[in-house]
Amino acid sequence: MATIIDGKLISQQIQEELTIEVNAIKANGSKLPHLAAVLVGNDGASETYVGAKVKACEKVGFKSTMVRLAADTTEKELLFIIEGLNNDPDIDGYIVQLPLPKHIDEQKIMMAIAPEKDVDGFHPQNVGRMALNLPTYLPATPFGIMQLLERYKIDTVGKYCVVIGRSHIVGSPMSILMARNTNPGNCTVTMCHSKTADLKAFTLKADIIIVALGKPEFLTADMVKDGVVVIDVGITRVASTQTKSGFKLLGDVKYDEVAAKSSFITPVPGGVGPMTIASLLVNTLKSSRKEVYK
Ligand code: GUN
Repeated sequence: MATIIDGKLISQQIQEELTIEVNAIKANGSKLPHLAAVLVGNDGASETYVGAKVKACEKVGFKSTMVRLAADTTEKELLFIIEGLNNDPDIDGYIVQLPLPKHIDEQKIMMAIAPEKDVDGFHPQNVGRMALNLPTYLPATPFGIMQLLERYKIDTVGKYCVVIGRSHIVGSPMSILMARNTNPGNCTVTMCHSKTADLKAFTLKADIIIVALGKPEFLTADMVKDGVVVIDVGITRVASTQTKSGFKLLGDVKYDEVAAKSSFITPVPGGVGPMTIASLLVNTLKSSRKEVYK
């Protein structure tokens, strides 16, 4: 039977650890860590995510600031806001929630964020530092997955890891982290994507599979070997007649049948999802302590 990786529990543990740190900061009268989140427009999912991030800040005792901007905010206006956040000494770190409206160039925005305040780890300078194994902010989802592997003491050294998906937010950084000379890490990594020929030939050989595609129930039992470790990053809302809300959340893994062959597996919801918030808070604390950029 597979061990179910409880991301909700680990996320709570990390938040408790952070609360202890905040209490110590308060006790010696130092400045509280302060995270700002910029939300442009009113995409439902983004509102939920940003709301959860701000709420988590309050829970651990950080300061938080929500910057809400209209959907028709221009790129120039957003750059002006970013400039303000870069220069505000009270803000330790901030995020600009993605996706942004189509008329705004995301890359340009990411590059305008001061690297020392980029707690999402999306700025090219921080991505480069990650690749070089230099101090940096790791992007929230990959950092959360590394925490799960570490806290469940999953052996990764010399293992074959297949990452499915090459997004800048998950797949790409994940493949770099799993190959680095760190623990967790030291895997032999293949990054697969929509153009990969014969994906199953790779997944069947994998000791660890990290799926970040956004295709519900994509990974099936016939694609994995016995004893595999499965990390499911997908979270898609689908209509359902079985729930009161009329929808349910599905991961990228056909859970029951893949779990039956796995040694470890993350559920959806309650696996990777809750970890992303914990990661962001850890990065914000690091930023307030100037641990990355001295
Ligand atoms: N959209 C989806 N995931 C993320 C994330 O980790 N950070 C930001 N800023 N936007 C996202």
